[in-house]
Amino acid sequence: MTQLKNDLLLRTLRGQQTERTPVWMMRQAGRYLPDYMKLKEKYSFFQRCQTPELATEITIQPVEQVGVDAAIIFSDILVVPQAMGLEVEMIEGKGPLLPAPVKNQKDLARLHLPDVEESLGYVFDALRLTKKTLDGRVPLIGFAGAPWTLLCYMVQGKGSKTFDEAKVFCYTQPETAHRLLQMITDTTIAYLKGQARAGADVVQIFDSWGGLLGPDDFENLSLKYIRQIVEALKDVRKTGSGQNIARSAEKSNVGRPSEDLLRHGPPRSEPSQGSVPDNEPPVRSEDEVLTIIFAKGAWSSLESMAATGAHGLGIDWCIRPQMARQLAGPKVALQGNFDPAKLLSPIPVIQKEVRAMMDAFKGHPHIANLGHGILPDVPVDHARAFVEAVKDYRQEGQRSST
Ligand code: CP3
Repeated sequence: MTQLKNDLLLRTLRGQQTERTPVWMMRQAGRYLPDYMKLKEKYSFFQRCQTPELATEITIQPVEQVGVDAAIIFSDILVVPQAMGLEVEMIEGKGPLLPAPVKNQKDLARLHLPDVEESLGYVFDALRLTKKTLDGRVPLIGFAGAPWTLLCYMVQGKGSKTFDEAKVFCYTQPETAHRLLQMITDTTIAYLKGQARAGADVVQIFDSWGGLLGPDDFENLSLKYIRQIVEALKDVRKTGSGQNIARSAEKSNVGRPSEDLLRHGPPRSEPSQGSVPDNEPPVRSEDEVLTIIFAKGAWSSLESMAATGAHGLGIDWCIRPQMARQLAGPKVALQGNFDPAKLLSPIPVIQKEVRAMMDAFKGHPHIANLGHGILPDVPVDHARAFVEAVKDYRQEGQRSST
């Protein structure tokens, strides 16, 4: 496997000391980059996702043009509902549209547990090609939507500020809702394991709408399923040559998970005892697939999110880093939490605000990031100023400590 030249992100997620804080930006691939806009004129959204050469090119653009410490694969969370049999359109200027959303038990019967190699193999191909093209410059992040956030789109059928129809579906048809959440979870486990095997060093679970739920509902409708995903990924190890091999039942099924596995998921391990079969050595930390949960707005559940064993937790700007740290405990890496709208401020203001953010996270593992995705109208030099201000902060720290 190509040795990583910059592994700041991985070491931070493992809780190791680093020379400086790693930085990347959610939604960094696409949107605000002029070179992306040129590709957008020629190819539809899903063409861009489904063509590994295009996805690779878009993924690497921010590494080369903005200087981030990690690449995140260009794709979308909605490729999972698509693979499960729902039609998804991306309407320019409006966002996603699912013309035949899930409203009841009958609609659920239209969905299936996909063979992820068959339906999402193009994402794995894009990861493999990106990994090769990156040639060890920075780590590669894969991702998926959290089951709750995917349910929001699958039931509501489009974006919403409140997702009331999705909530009413869960509150009035709980059995159907939980069956759907479990189907999404099982698909996501197979999908993220595939991403790890294809070369993702880290996977992030985006729960963009987690903050719409009260703490009990968040536990019941979201975290319960995220926990299963995090737990299943503990059973996956990376090995040489960029190939990661699952060490559980899936081992003999690499590439084509069995029906049984897709239906029931891999055997689950007890967190305290582990699930290492007798003849298997334990997963070494360098072989682990690292996990980040980003549940926007769900900060009141940070303590339970930390207890899942995820390596990193994303936070937005509505909670002070010091308070997030108190809730999450000292070990887990915290990721965030710059208000994306502040990237439209003049560059000296961005620099000052970045220093304030860095001060607030000091002393514990931190990954500098935005508290949500970058906005489409951010000038590239402002994005670069954000990244450089994080990198410069280390130099100041070094100067003051010598
Ligand atoms: O981080 C990256 O840059 C990688 C690519 C990525 C996209 N979507 C590409 C995209 C990632 C990580 C996502 C995640 C995603 N997609 C989320 C979770 C993160 C978040 O922002 O909350 C959500 C909720 C979606 C669903 C989605 N996809 C929406 C609501 C929209 C429309 C509005 C928007 O965000 O632009 C999309 C379209 C989309 N996905 C675009 C891109 C670059 C813009 C459309 C285009 O470029 O044609």
